[in-house]
Amino acid sequence: MRIYDIIEKKRDGEKLTREEIRFFINGYTNGEIPDYQASAFLMAVFFQDMTEEERAELTSTMVESGDQIDLSAISGIKVDKHSTGGVGDTTTLILAPLVASLGVPVAKMSGRGLGHTGGTIDKLESVPGFHVEITSDEFVDLVNQNKVAVVGQTGNLAPADKKLYSLRDVTATVNSIPLIASSIMSKKIASGADAIVLDVKTGAGAFMKELDEAKELAGAMVSIGNRVGRNTMAVISDMSQPLGNAIGNALEVEEAIATLRGNGPEDLTELCLELGSQMVVLANKADTLEEARERLSENLNNGKALEQFKQFLKSQGGDARVVDNTDLLPQAVHTFDLPAKQSGRISEIIADNIGTAAMMLGAGRATKDSEIDLAVGIVLDKKVGDHISKGESLLKIHASTDEVAHVKEKLYESIMITNDPVEAPPLIYDNIT
Ligand code: URA
Ligand code: CA
Repeated sequence: MRIYDIIEKKRDGEKLTREEIRFFINGYTNGEIPDYQASAFLMAVFFQDMTEEERAELTSTMVESGDQIDLSAISGIKVDKHSTGGVGDTTTLILAPLVASLGVPVAKMSGRGLGHTGGTIDKLESVPGFHVEITSDEFVDLVNQNKVAVVGQTGNLAPADKKLYSLRDVTATVNSIPLIASSIMSKKIASGADAIVLDVKTGAGAFMKELDEAKELAGAMVSIGNRVGRNTMAVISDMSQPLGNAIGNALEVEEAIATLRGNGPEDLTELCLELGSQMVVLANKADTLEEARERLSENLNNGKALEQFKQFLKSQGGDARVVDNTDLLPQAVHTFDLPAKQSGRISEIIADNIGTAAMMLGAGRATKDSEIDLAVGIVLDKKVGDHISKGESLLKIHASTDEVAHVKEKLYESIMITNDPVEAPPLIYDNIT
């Protein structure tokens, strides 16, 4: 087999065999195939696409390029949730204890990552004492005992994807459905879940800005998951404005606590119930989505989800008193309101820009080595569709400095107020199975 022939075949729009895909992935990962030929291959895929079978084959091969986490010592069906990423997406903090409260085992592997705020682990580390430095045996034991544990990314997951992603980044081949879908799914599958619920975001703050692109990506990932034997479904949800009200690490923990108490923002609560019901059904802990939703709502209102969260924090060294006293979380030194310059209805809160503003305050990492400030961020007082009067606060800024004029300017540019009627955007567009 020669890589030249494989590139030529894909260039001409032909379907590759399993052996040809393996030859490419293995050869590129072990350094036998040079970057220039891999680049040509990726560009051929970009233009010619791949069949569902090729995409599944590509994904399995990338999974096999590295470690695969074995969760078989955890009893029950392990369901993982993955979000394609957005601004103020606090769902994992809520969903993990919430679905665990119905007996669904949640063995969550999470990252710190780059972006507007930290990853799930950074957020959880704003709880004093909480840590994810546990061995894999401890991790398994914790999930078996408490139904929920979070561990840092361990092992060498899908190294083929890591190498390919860096190459895609510099060859204008990131934005390709078969390449994105196989990249995301290879990492999810390698981390060991039996079933996967995908939250594919669409709108200004999402990776897929347009609804039809989001649907296409969701369909591609669902097909891959099911073909490789992981029961997979996707929810397409809105990310035109931030989710919930809080954007920032400790601020999102506080928001998660409110939501687990049944007092969370409406959109965040609704999305958690939607994703949670799907997880509970995939885990075989309820027969129907309606039944799952009802039992999840019950546990938000009767304190069981909150109790599960306390237990989870304690079991990983965290000070569970934060749940009843959020003043124990890191607090920003300065807070500022952002008064509206006119009356009217909020027509737009551009998610991306709000995320950038949170990052300017120090809530997120610009590079892998940047320090993040767990206390800072933004809490929205209004969402799209709400009425506001001139002088009333649009949002609160939590900062470590009083020099926030540039952040305020960015925020004013990101929130539109109109005199016309405005409808809030739908939260959930579609479910893909
Ligand atoms: N996220 C990933 O992990 N991979 C992609 O290709 C795009 C986004
Ligand atoms: Ca939020």
